[in-house]
Amino acid sequence: MKINELFNLTGKVAIVTGGGNGIGKASCLMLANAGAAVAVSDLKHEDALKVAEEINAAGGKAIGVACNVTEDSDLVKLVEQTVQQLGGVHILVNNAGGGGGGRENPFKISVDDFAWRFKLNVYSAWRLSQLCVPYMDKGGYGSIINITSMSSINRSPNMSAYAASKAAMNHMTANLAMDFGGAKVRVNAVGPGATKTAALASVLTPEIESKMLTNTPIKRLGEVDDIAGAVLYFAAPVSEWVSGQVIFVNGGGVQTLD
Ligand SMILES: NC(=O)c1ccc[n+]([C@@H]2O[C@H](COP(=O)([O-])OP(=O)(O)OC[C@H]3O[C@@H](n4cnc5c(N)ncnc54)[C@H](O)[C@@H]3O)[C@@H](O)[C@H]2O)c1
Repeated sequence: MKINELFNLTGKVAIVTGGGNGIGKASCLMLANAGAAVAVSDLKHEDALKVAEEINAAGGKAIGVACNVTEDSDLVKLVEQTVQQLGGVHILVNNAGGGGGGRENPFKISVDDFAWRFKLNVYSAWRLSQLCVPYMDKGGYGSIINITSMSSINRSPNMSAYAASKAAMNHMTANLAMDFGGAKVRVNAVGPGATKTAALASVLTPEIESKMLTNTPIKRLGEVDDIAGAVLYFAAPVSEWVSGQVIFVNGGGVQTLD
C-alpha cells in the first residue's frame, strides 16, 4: 500500500463522542483531515455544531449531533442519525468520559457517583460498540477506538472510580477485539497522559505541572493532537492487523495529580 493510502479515510464515516472540545474535537478534525465524514457528537450540541461547521468550511463533511452518552436513547439516535445522514459507520471513537481529578475520596463518594463513572466511561463505549458493529460489518471496514487514560495503570489517591473504570475499558478493548474480529472490526484503545484540555486545566496547578514534568522524559505536557495522532493510526488502514491493543501517549513518563 502506498504511504498516502495507509492514512486515507476517504469514503469512511466516523462517530466521535465528546467531539465538541479537547481530545474529541482534535480527533474529529484529524479524521476529517484524513478524508472521513464525521458525526461530531457532544452533550453540548452547540459545541458539536461548531466543530462540524469548521470541518464543512474546510471542505470536509460533518454533522453535529446532541448526545449524552449516559442516555441509551441518545446513543441509539446518534447511530441512526449518522447512518441516515452520512450513509454508514466505519470508525467509532469512544472519547466522552470523565471522573477522577483526585475527587474520589472513598469515605465521601456515594455509591451512585461511583456507578455513574462506570456508566459514563464503560457502559457507553460498550453499548455504542454493540450498536455500530453491524454497520461496520455491512460496510466492510471497522475500527473502534476507546479513549482510556494513564490512570488505568497508575496508582493514585482519590481516583479509584475513574481509574478502575478506565482499566475496565482497557480490558474490555481486548475482549471485544475477540468478539468483533469475525466481523473484521478492530478494537483498540488510546491512554492519554496529562493532556492540555479544559478537563486538565480544572485540576492543574503550576506546582503539579512542574512535578509532572520531572517524571516526563519528553519535557512537556500532551497536546490534543498528540492523542488524535494515535486515534488516526488506529482508525486508518495502516493498523489493519492491530487489534486489542492499548497505546499510552504520555511523553514517555507518568503524570499524576498527587
Ligand atoms: N485531558 C487529559 O489529560 C486526559 C488524560 C487521560 C484521559 N483523558 C480522557 O480523554 C477524554 C476526553 O477528555 P478531555 O480532556 O478532552 O475533556 P474535555 O473536558 O476537554 O472535553 C470533553 C468533551 O466531552 C463532552 N462530554 C462530557 N460529558 C459528556 C457526556 N455525558 N456525553 C457526551 N459528551 C460529553 C464535553 O461537553 C466536552 O465537549 C475523556 O475520556 C478523558 O477521561 C483525558
